[in-house]
Amino acid sequence: MSSKRRIGILTGGGDCPGLNAVIRAAVKYGVTQLGWEIIGIHDSFNGLLTTPFETTAMTRDAVRGILTRGGTILGTTNRGDPFAFPMKQADGTTTVVDRSQELREALSTLAIEGLICIGGDGTMRIAHQLSQLGIKVVGVPKTIDNDIGSTEVTFGFNTAVQVATDAIDRLHSTAESHDRVMVAEVMGRDCGWIALHAGIASGADVILIPELPYNIEHVCEKILRRQAAGRFFSIVVVAEGAVPVGGEASHLGVNTPGGMPRFGGAGHHVAAIIEEQTHLETRVTVLGHLLRGGTPSTFDRLLATRFGCAAARLIQQEGWGRMVAIQADTIIDVPLDEAIRHTKNVHPNGEIVQTGRALGIEFGA
Ligand code: F6P
Repeated sequence: MSSKRRIGILTGGGDCPGLNAVIRAAVKYGVTQLGWEIIGIHDSFNGLLTTPFETTAMTRDAVRGILTRGGTILGTTNRGDPFAFPMKQADGTTTVVDRSQELREALSTLAIEGLICIGGDGTMRIAHQLSQLGIKVVGVPKTIDNDIGSTEVTFGFNTAVQVATDAIDRLHSTAESHDRVMVAEVMGRDCGWIALHAGIASGADVILIPELPYNIEHVCEKILRRQAAGRFFSIVVVAEGAVPVGGEASHLGVNTPGGMPRFGGAGHHVAAIIEEQTHLETRVTVLGHLLRGGTPSTFDRLLATRFGCAAARLIQQEGWGRMVAIQADTIIDVPLDEAIRHTKNVHPNGEIVQTGRALGIEFGA
């Protein structure tokens, strides 16, 4: 067995533009500069829970040309929590099993000293639990939702906002031509950052986010006021997790054991009521996974690259159990338990919401 330091790297949860840039940076720095071996684990933690293991040696060549590529070359899943792993039974049902000890044994079999876990809130929670078991982990936060505490921003968010803004710009011109209400549904389960940023940047008339439960009457009144003023179209941006006052977010189907609740339908729900109450033709576009795919923006490539190098530096400093983050354009690191303590929500009276209100945007609340 070689005497080199051997580190594992994996991507967990939903994919997001910039994951490959983190992998590339960590490998370029860790393998080329620091002389480590880096083992890529496939499909989040799952690659350690299969027979045989599903891993790849992350040589310099393995990461060539991936800086601009969307997705993750390692694959990912949000159905692979080793502490609550969904296992299909012979009778077709699924039960949830704790496989964390198997994971520990896999790391020891592969002589992997510790893991770089790149992921969202779910992956950071798993990383924290692993670190409580004494397994060495460092976290790298990713998510288009921008909802992870302790970091000002996550890579993927900037790209998602740009894609959403471009799409809503396009809806704008067709809405205006046809005198229609156009509803654009964007991702954002618990936090409305994408809807808020893209909505303001694209000149939306209504923005509905989970942090501000909406009253649909206010939304319809806004649209009818625009009509009365000769503005015969309206743009409504709805986060998938938007909730009516006293109501619930729209979900699709039933939750599978070990799986995340699947959001969907918020845009159609809002559109149906708008059409019924205003008698204006109302159409819906669900942007969904379009926001997660494709090449990362310049901002996200840079942030992901900084995070990848910072994760390797953190390991050099034996900063296990911590997550890299950015505050005031400075890369820092924070304990994982601090990072998972709070979801970073939009402040209902924060400056950006106030800016929206100053522009006359209706938040339904
Ligand atoms: O966490 C990122 C996110 O994009 C959420 O906004 C969205 O609800 C979820 O992932 C969708 O995940 P999936 O691809 O499993 O449907």
